[in-house]
Amino acid sequence: NVEFVICRDANGKLQAFHNVCRHHASLLACGSGQKTCFQCPYHGWTYGLDGTLLKATRISGIKNFNKNDFGLLPIKVATWGPFVLARFDDSSQDTVDDVVGDEWLGSASDLLSRSGIDTSLPHICRREYIIECNWKVFCDNYLDGGYHVPYAHGALASGLQLQSYETLTYEKVSVQRCESAPEEQDIDRLGTKATYAFVYPNFMINRCDGHPSELVISTCLR
Ligand code: FES
Repeated sequence: NVEFVICRDANGKLQAFHNVCRHHASLLACGSGQKTCFQCPYHGWTYGLDGTLLKATRISGIKNFNKNDFGLLPIKVATWGPFVLARFDDSSQDTVDDVVGDEWLGSASDLLSRSGIDTSLPHICRREYIIECNWKVFCDNYLDGGYHVPYAHGALASGLQLQSYETLTYEKVSVQRCESAPEEQDIDRLGTKATYAFVYPNFMINRCDGHPSELVISTCLR
C-alpha cells in the first residue's frame, strides 16, 4: 500500500507510519522486503524502523533544526489472527491485539467466532487483484443479500439454500448467512451455514464451504 508503511523493528515490534518523508513529502517506500532502515529516494533522509529520523542529509548549518521533530508520523496498528489492521483515527487509545476483535467486530464478534472466524485463522496465501471499479460498486455487490448469486454464481447457488439467506447488521459489521444445500451438509464441517462478514469500510471475511475442509477468504479493499 502506498499510503502507509508497516514493518517490524529490530525488537520485533510491529510499527506503521504514513508513507511520507518528513522533508518534502516524497513517498518513502514501496513493495515489500527486508530493510534495516528507510532511506528516502528523493534527498536521502534516513529513518529507523521505529520511525526515528536517523540522518538528514546536508543539514549542517541549518538553525533550529531538531531531528527529533521529524520522525515518521505513526499509525496505530495491531494484529488479529493472520491480519495486520491499521487504524487512522486520532484516538489516543492504544490498539492492542486482544481488543481488536471487539473494537472492529463489536457485538458481531461472538457470532463470527462461533462461525470459525476469529484470531485462530491461519494464513495460507495472499493474492492481489486489481479491480477497476468504484469502492461503492464492489461493496454494493458484496452486500446485496445474495440477489446476484443465482445468476452470476450458478455453481455456488446450487450448493446453498438461497431461501434461507439472511442479513444481520451490527455496529460496523454486516453478516450475511445462508444454509448449505442438504447434500452439502453430510460432510463433517464447522456448521452448515456459509458466512459473509463485511466490516466497514473495507474488510470482508467469507467462510465458504470447501472440499474437503472449510475455506476462509478475506478481502481488503484499498
Ligand atoms: S523528500 Fe525525502 S529526503 Fe527530501
